[in-house]
Amino acid sequence: MESEILKIEKFYAFFGKNRVLKDVTLSIPEYKVTAIMGPSGCGKTTLIRCINRMHELTPEARIEGSIRLNDQDIYGMNPIILRRKIGMVFQRPNPFPTMSIFDNVIAGYKLNGIKVGKTELNGIVERSLQKAALWNEVKDDLFKKGTFLSGGQQQRLCIARALAMNPEILLLDEPTSALDPKATAFIEELIVELKKSVTILMVTHNTAQAAKTANYTAFMYLGDLIEFGKTSKLFTVPDDKRTEEYLTGRGEFVED
Ligand SMILES: Nc1ncnc2c1ncn2[C@@H]1O[C@H](COP(=O)(O)OP(=O)(O)O)[C@@H](O)[C@H]1O
Ligand SMILES: [Mg+2]
Repeated sequence: MESEILKIEKFYAFFGKNRVLKDVTLSIPEYKVTAIMGPSGCGKTTLIRCINRMHELTPEARIEGSIRLNDQDIYGMNPIILRRKIGMVFQRPNPFPTMSIFDNVIAGYKLNGIKVGKTELNGIVERSLQKAALWNEVKDDLFKKGTFLSGGQQQRLCIARALAMNPEILLLDEPTSALDPKATAFIEELIVELKKSVTILMVTHNTAQAAKTANYTAFMYLGDLIEFGKTSKLFTVPDDKRTEEYLTGRGEFVED
C-alpha cells in the first residue's frame, strides 16, 4: 500500500455565494503523478489553488472541509511556509521579466527573505536547473533575462523555480497548454522523471498526456469529484458514464 501525502476531505470552495467545489474527498499518493481532468469551469484550478492556499487570496473566496499534508491540517499552517512545501506552476510560463535566469530560480528565497550563502545559492541554482532538465541549455547564460528563452524553456525555468524550494508536492495547472508539441513532449518526459523525488498533481485537458504521465486520474464535473482511480482503469473501464463520455470526447462538454 503506497502512502498518501495529501488528504482532501469533504471539501467545498466558494466564490461569494457561488459554490464551485462540492464535497470533494480525495487522497493523493506520494511520489506518483495524479492528473485532474474535466470540462472547463468544473473547478480544477480552484481545487489546486485551495491546496496551496491561494484561493483565499481572492476577495469573497471561502472554503469548508479539510486538507491535510502528512496528517497536518494545511489551514492551520502558516500559508507562506505551506507554499514552500507545495509549489505551483501555472498555465502560461511566468518567469519574472526583470530578473536573470539565476535570480528567477532563487526568487522564492529572495521573496521570502531566506538568507543563503553564495556557494549554496550556486548549488541550488545548478541542482534545480538540472532537475528541470534546463541546465545544459542555460548554464552559460545564467545572468541573461529569463524572458529570452523559448516558451518551453521558460516553463522549465518556472518548474526549476518551484523545485528550488524543495517542495513535497508540485502542482501543475495545464503546464503545456501554451506550448508546441515538441516542448510539450519534453515536459511530459520531465514530469515522469520528477515523480521520483516529488509528488505531482497536474491539471490537464489532454487525455494522451494523462495516459503518458499520470499513475492516477481524477475526473471532475461541475464541482463534483466523479471518479478517481488508476489512469489505466479510468481510461478503459470507467465506473461513471460521464467519465467515459468525456474521455472519449462524446459528451456535450464545453471546452475552452
Ligand atoms: N476569481 C473568481 N471569481 C469568481 N468566480 C470564479 C473565479 N475563478 C473561477 N471562478 C468560477 O469558479 C468555477 C470553477 O473555475 P475553475 O476552477 O477555474 O475551473 P477549471 O479550472 O476547471 O476550468 C467556474 O464557474 C468559474 O467561473
Ligand atoms: Mg483551470
